[in-house]
Amino acid sequence: MHVTFNLAAELDAALKAAAGKAGLEADAFAPEVRPADPRHGDFQANGILGYAKARKLNPRTTAEQLVAALPAELLNQCDVAIAGPGFINFTLKPAALLAWLRQHDNAEHLKAGAASFYAGQRYVVDYSSPNTAKQLHVGHIRSMVIGEAICRLLGFCGATVTRDNHIGDWGTQFGKLIWGYKHLRDEAALERDPLEELERLYKAADVATKEDPAVLDAARAELVKLQDGDAENLGLWEKIIAISSGAFREIYRRLDINFDCELGESFYKDQLSRIYTELHETGLSTESQGAQVVFHPEHPRFKTQPFIIRKSDGASNYATTDLATMLYRTGHFKADAIIVLTDTRQADHFEQLWLTTQKWYAAKGYRLPRFEHVSFGSILGSDGKAIKTRSGDPIKLQALLDEAVERAFGQVTEKSPELPEAERRAIAETVGIGAVRYADLAQNRSSDYVFDWEKILSFDGNTAPYLLYAVSRVHSIFRKLELQPDDAKATAGATAPEAPGEIALARKLVGLPAVLNTTTAQLRPHFLCTYLFELAGAFSSFYAAEKVLVDEPEVRARRLMLCARTLLFLETGLHLLGLRTLKRM
Ligand code: ARG
Repeated sequence: MHVTFNLAAELDAALKAAAGKAGLEADAFAPEVRPADPRHGDFQANGILGYAKARKLNPRTTAEQLVAALPAELLNQCDVAIAGPGFINFTLKPAALLAWLRQHDNAEHLKAGAASFYAGQRYVVDYSSPNTAKQLHVGHIRSMVIGEAICRLLGFCGATVTRDNHIGDWGTQFGKLIWGYKHLRDEAALERDPLEELERLYKAADVATKEDPAVLDAARAELVKLQDGDAENLGLWEKIIAISSGAFREIYRRLDINFDCELGESFYKDQLSRIYTELHETGLSTESQGAQVVFHPEHPRFKTQPFIIRKSDGASNYATTDLATMLYRTGHFKADAIIVLTDTRQADHFEQLWLTTQKWYAAKGYRLPRFEHVSFGSILGSDGKAIKTRSGDPIKLQALLDEAVERAFGQVTEKSPELPEAERRAIAETVGIGAVRYADLAQNRSSDYVFDWEKILSFDGNTAPYLLYAVSRVHSIFRKLELQPDDAKATAGATAPEAPGEIALARKLVGLPAVLNTTTAQLRPHFLCTYLFELAGAFSSFYAAEKVLVDEPEVRARRLMLCARTLLFLETGLHLLGLRTLKRM
């Protein structure tokens, strides 16, 4: 029996075909097959009601006609029941569960199945994208972690993904920084800890500009000189960028993040005049108090709140570079879809950017991509305010990761004191960083969340340590048998699941495609986290109820198959989220 990866899509197509056979308007009928409440089935078709209502038909009768027209082969695979006012529920029979599990036996096969979701689609994902000359702090982690998970998920589901780190390397901060560098720098400190010194210089210059208008003018003059291509200032700018990118790279390495390109704001500096011209030519922009701005009369707020694309002093800004960036991503990268990650505070900017882009592209006849601002809430401390160190400074990301690893090392040492120290250190790096990462992904990204060490490092609940432990536990089952989990010998002759725990676990496993679908469609990794957590729970119940190493070879084989698939799905899912996994902990 051959079964496709995406059973929901298969059932959808079967119902549409049945509609044709039953003499219904197949083209106008969307079956809307979705994962069902497991008490009622594996999948449910919800579209009959709407179709029947619009035509004054009795939805139950329509459902009966559809079911009668379903092919016999499908009825061999599922129990089909009409429920409520006209839903159709499908419950896979054990033999179909077995066939599906047999077929999806390694990560490549899963990937091949998922590849149809976004096949041929080109995505540019803009994430991390920090401003230069500041250290990465805890607030920066969300964009990195959520962005990387999104890239991996889309890539797994068939998209071609370009990861672009759109560094803020051309902003007004450089006026102050260059002024500070020229007047306030401490050579020894710059030698010792260059990034720390740059931060100090920025802060000191910022204070000085506030105290003395002459300094403010001087800092502005430095910025203008830089933007006009002054050699000395360009040299300093390059030096500052080099210092920050070295520090960024260290964190990216630790978090397994690799960009395809780092086209920061400065990359677009020679492409901005085209923006001024085109928005003017197309009549989209107007002049307001000497600045070039775009209003959106149809929008309640943006009819009066301008999108400033050129300041009154002639300087470009964030909006100008983002418009040029849009053009480059559609022109050079031929993006079908563009995703930008930042916190929710930039929602207005991206809404204005997108409204402007749609009108501008329509006026010029450019091919419009899809655009998604993937926004997220803040990380809070236990006091419910934005997380800070005791002295009120932002917590540096490097220090946070170090602390996570150190705490995890304590836990691992407590749990497995017999392991050699080097191994405990390696495990701690995976668990500690995984815990921080997973805590960020497991929440709906739109909400704020409270950062709590106890909670994120707990071995109970929806956490990385719990899931990593579940993975290592399944590995240990195979280790004791001296078998590789992907060894076909172990699962040869497996029969269809039978015991309730086996069936529940198998049904959970078969739910993966629908979860991948929802997670990527909504760009919300927490759906996958919840699934993995529930899968680990279904495995625990199965393992507590059923002995795996029984004498009957076919029962043993089918239970080992359930173990092997659980392991495969947990590992694949965790890797998609950006975590590493462990064979032992
Ligand atoms: N550098 C910006 C910040 O730190 C984020 C940039 C996001 N990407 C973009 N194309 N605007 O807030």
